[in-house]
Amino acid sequence: MAKRIDVKDLNIYYGKFHAVDNVTLSVPPRSVTAFIGPSGCGKSTVLRTLNRMHEVIPGARVDGEVLLDGENIYAANVDPVQVRRTIGMVFQRPNPFPTMSIRDNVVAGLKLAGTKNRKQLDEIAERALRGANLWNEVKDRLNKPGGGLSGGQQQRLCIARAIAVRPDVLLMDEPCSALDPISTLAIEDLIGELKKDYTIVIVTHNMQQAARVSDQTAFFNLAGIGQPGRLVELNDTEKIFSNPNEKATEDYISGRFG
Ligand SMILES: Nc1ncnc2c1ncn2[C@@H]1O[C@H](COP(=O)(O)OP(=O)(O)OP(=O)(O)O)[C@@H](O)[C@H]1O
Ligand SMILES: [Mg+2]
Repeated sequence: MAKRIDVKDLNIYYGKFHAVDNVTLSVPPRSVTAFIGPSGCGKSTVLRTLNRMHEVIPGARVDGEVLLDGENIYAANVDPVQVRRTIGMVFQRPNPFPTMSIRDNVVAGLKLAGTKNRKQLDEIAERALRGANLWNEVKDRLNKPGGGLSGGQQQRLCIARAIAVRPDVLLMDEPCSALDPISTLAIEDLIGELKKDYTIVIVTHNMQQAARVSDQTAFFNLAGIGQPGRLVELNDTEKIFSNPNEKATEDYISGRFG
């Protein structure tokens, strides 16, 4: 199958610290890939290299290739701002602009990019809020501040903001870790719907969540403190959680890990 994302021989550094060693992986279109592994093994670091967010950290550097539909996003002629528009990101803590209205939060990126037509922006806001499964809860208070929503609603608002610019890929770094179980299930349902249109990569510490939402799972691990993180196994999620190829994967998912 044609791969949407192809990562080849990726090495990631923070200054002199080699944080992630030689990762190669592929992500098919319209699928969900989960990144799992112990704290510090480089899940967030790898995720941030997929839309060139890593390099905004001073001293941070990447070697290797990340291809999106065959084009290297690290090629010299590629604009990182455009990359981040095509490959959107949702963070661990919902981060809406708190005093900005719900509607303006959703269309903030489009306004920045120069779209001014009010009616067009209203339509895009509605479509994105429907897509994020939030429309019914906020349609009567679109002009109220985004900071006035519950945590789970704020996270869906951030998802609406991410999809309003029509990205091809959505990266999510522990999007449910600050949410209650009901909001978590709402986001998981939403991920299941979004994958009809988008390619999704999600970092999670919740094994049930990885098993529920993802098609393939990547297990990252560390050989020891100060050692770089590496990809141990990438496989169908069903396989990872029933009969993984690597013993380290099995130890991790069954909780035998020390
Ligand atoms: N801004 C940074 N500057 C220097 N080192 C960093 C920075 N961010 C992360 N690191 C280091 O890179 C390694 C990988 O970190 P990363 O945040 O990717 O881990 P993670 O797998 O996402 O962990 P967690 O599950 O705790 O979120 C760690 O050793 C971490 O200390
Ligand atoms: Mg992380």
